[in-house]
Amino acid sequence: MSDSDTIGRREFVVGAAALAAGATLVGRTPAQAVPVADGVAKFSFPDEGRVRVLVTGDAGTGTRTQWAVADAMRTFHSREPISLALGLGDNIYENGPHDAADGQFADKFENPNEGLDFPWLMVLGNHDNSAIFPGDGGWLLRGNAEVEYHARSRRWWMPSRYYSVRVPEQNPVVEFFVLDVNPLAAYLPPIFSPYWAADGQFMNEQRAWLDRALAESTATWKIACTHHPYSSNGPHGDAGHYDGVPIAPINGVHVKSFIEDHVAGRCQFILSGHDHSLQVLEPTTASKGTRQIVSGAAAKTVGSEARNTEDASNTALYENYHELGFMVLDLTANAVDLRVHTVDLANGTSTEAFARRLG
Ligand SMILES: [Fe+2]
Repeated sequence: MSDSDTIGRREFVVGAAALAAGATLVGRTPAQAVPVADGVAKFSFPDEGRVRVLVTGDAGTGTRTQWAVADAMRTFHSREPISLALGLGDNIYENGPHDAADGQFADKFENPNEGLDFPWLMVLGNHDNSAIFPGDGGWLLRGNAEVEYHARSRRWWMPSRYYSVRVPEQNPVVEFFVLDVNPLAAYLPPIFSPYWAADGQFMNEQRAWLDRALAESTATWKIACTHHPYSSNGPHGDAGHYDGVPIAPINGVHVKSFIEDHVAGRCQFILSGHDHSLQVLEPTTASKGTRQIVSGAAAKTVGSEARNTEDASNTALYENYHELGFMVLDLTANAVDLRVHTVDLANGTSTEAFARRLG
């Protein structure tokens, strides 16, 4: 781990003070969306009814593996132009950025993704909000630096901690609902801060916003994007028993109810990362027909890491825990086609491992 990955004593004290201060320090919600800085020309969203989406997650290592996957994505893009990308969280390993000017944004996002010149809808992950140990998710305010970075980057799209994007803007084929469930799933839960509590102001505002945004949406396809999956056959497992830990809220029981109460049956898809794998799961009765897809293998794989066998029971059309990769969604008003590409680390090339019409 390099120095830039660890936080100093001063930052830890500031983070701890922020946790203790609670409601005086708030998350960046759509009401406080970050404006784009003068002179920054954001890459534009497509204005046509065919949308090709690159689906990546857990990419922000800055290492050779991230570059190899990005190389394969560039090759794909040169052959079949991509409209926009999803970065499904853990954008800046190991603990998140220090501030919006942090060089990690260049090392772990801009430079590896050079040439992938389209908007990247970014999701906050647990590593983006960490305080003491990598991925603890215990310093939620830290994620605000990733929101503020929206002002500075042509490709990074995160105007608030949760938001939606319609593509195209008029008569949308698809609307993405990018969600922040980190307050519900942190390994260091925000127990000293009522603002971030499962039934606190931040989550209640997000629930109300999501209910309204979904009700108002005229898009054919509605896609929820979270870092933490609702269901997964990987090591982190299903919401409600994350990581096999029988302790609420760390087990994700509040993520489970959030998804079941506000997303299930309302969106056709939930796209998530967190587990470093590629999974296309079947909808269930509990998910009310909503299909979970996990794409978290843009820089790391589960490999030989032990899987939670109790949770490895979701029916999968495709699952891969040993190869790096990404997914591509082709959306029109009439169809959703998914392709999974696995990446050969040795030469940065990809192979189509799965293709299926899902809608
Ligand atoms: Fe994660």
